[in-house]
Amino acid sequence: MSPCTEHVAATTRKFPEVDLILEKYDHQPARLTLILQAIQDEYRYLPMEVLSHVIEELDIPATKVFGVVSFYAHFTLEPRGKYVIRLCDGTACHAKRSIPILEALYAKLGLSSKKVTTPDMLFTVETVTCLGACGLAPVMLINEEVYGRVTPASAVALIDEIIAKEANA
Ligand code: FES
Repeated sequence: MSPCTEHVAATTRKFPEVDLILEKYDHQPARLTLILQAIQDEYRYLPMEVLSHVIEELDIPATKVFGVVSFYAHFTLEPRGKYVIRLCDGTACHAKRSIPILEALYAKLGLSSKKVTTPDMLFTVETVTCLGACGLAPVMLINEEVYGRVTPASAVALIDEIIAKEANA
């Protein structure tokens, strides 16, 4: 390939950031879970067109990719908000009243169990089972940040803080 052809190939790549991830993992199908995790970190979800690209590049059956995606609960095919709120509803958190927190979040953001992402793509609210911090129940994650002994009021205050921060960004 001439340098000129290489340049054209590089600039017409459909998903250059995905190609970098594939290169990082040596295009190894055995590292598919890590590849999918890196892609989800990049996009906040797994877009179908990107999965098709991965299937083509790794030359593996689509069933293998979708098998991994469906096996791990944290993989998602749906677009998510910039801030993913994971409220724990495991046994300890449920006993410490996680549901009123969920209801407060839903009411604040106009969401429900069927509509989990705000139209502006700022927030996604999910429930998860035990986050492994039961001593802090009820526990909530906002992206990677852990919040313990959350109340409906403190959860809504955190949302207000993020909204204010985003408005000033
Ligand atoms: S049940 Fe919520 S952190 Fe364990």
